[in-house]
Amino acid sequence: MAEDTHVLDRPPPGAAADWTIPQGWDAYTPEEHATWDTLFARQRKLLPGRASAAYLRGLDALKLSEGGIPDFEELSERLGKLTGWQVVAVPGLVPDEVFFDHMANRRFVAGSFIRRPDQLDYLQEPDVFHDVFGHVPMLADPVFADYLEAYGKGGQRAMQHDALKWLGRLYWYTVEFGLIREDGDLRIYGSGIVSSFAETRFALDDASPNRIGFDLARVMRTEYRIDDFQQNYFVVPDFDELLRVTVETDFAPLYERLKQLPDIPVAEVLPEDHVITAGTQAYAKRRT
Ligand code: PHE
Ligand code: FE
Repeated sequence: MAEDTHVLDRPPPGAAADWTIPQGWDAYTPEEHATWDTLFARQRKLLPGRASAAYLRGLDALKLSEGGIPDFEELSERLGKLTGWQVVAVPGLVPDEVFFDHMANRRFVAGSFIRRPDQLDYLQEPDVFHDVFGHVPMLADPVFADYLEAYGKGGQRAMQHDALKWLGRLYWYTVEFGLIREDGDLRIYGSGIVSSFAETRFALDDASPNRIGFDLARVMRTEYRIDDFQQNYFVVPDFDELLRVTVETDFAPLYERLKQLPDIPVAEVLPEDHVITAGTQAYAKRRT
């Protein structure tokens, strides 16, 4: 799989001009549905008390627990009624402008393949479990739904400013690996965490990573790792605040400022950070 999933400059055979493909729901094997069910049951048990209320509400409202890999048409029907979002299948990574165009129009692009049974714990390429279980419940939340649409539009703008490096980090540290404070406690909402058995605990309980209060410019300057647990998590006070600060900030001058500033390495803590937990980085050190 990995060798043929590079980004192409035009849709592969069988894909539409907007890069979407039929999900091919009828073609899933019983074994593939069983893989979904195994992953689902494992996360479902772990997430109450750890995932944000908005995520858990979405999971229930979308009836993702009915068993088997969801049919995107049925899922889009339910999701559409809640927030107007749809889920569409794509063959793998798509070009940035295609990704942003779908998102700006409330279409979430999802991989349709599912990982093999020997890959339950780790996979670099997003599969249907990561994309649907991880991302789609948050799209049932009206505020987060607005945030992601605004992000898509922001992506189109960032491309004109050659600023995807900075905007991409905002996605990474919110949509993929975000934490939120709820009733005084930390909760996970990032899809990369909620869809990972091991990182669900690591992100909340391990002494290794830094947990730092969300600051837009700080987040956009921070490097990240794609090959292992994060060394930094950023905590938003609530989704209204995340939406407000990102929508109200004009990113064009911010990008110009960020282009003059150095990137921040993954484990670094700055004097001005609002540190919630200062990580030992013991996990990362053990791995190098
Ligand atoms: N306000 C941002 C801009 O001026 C757009 C944006 C909104 C980006 C929400 C991300 C999230 O480009
Ligand atoms: Fe993702």
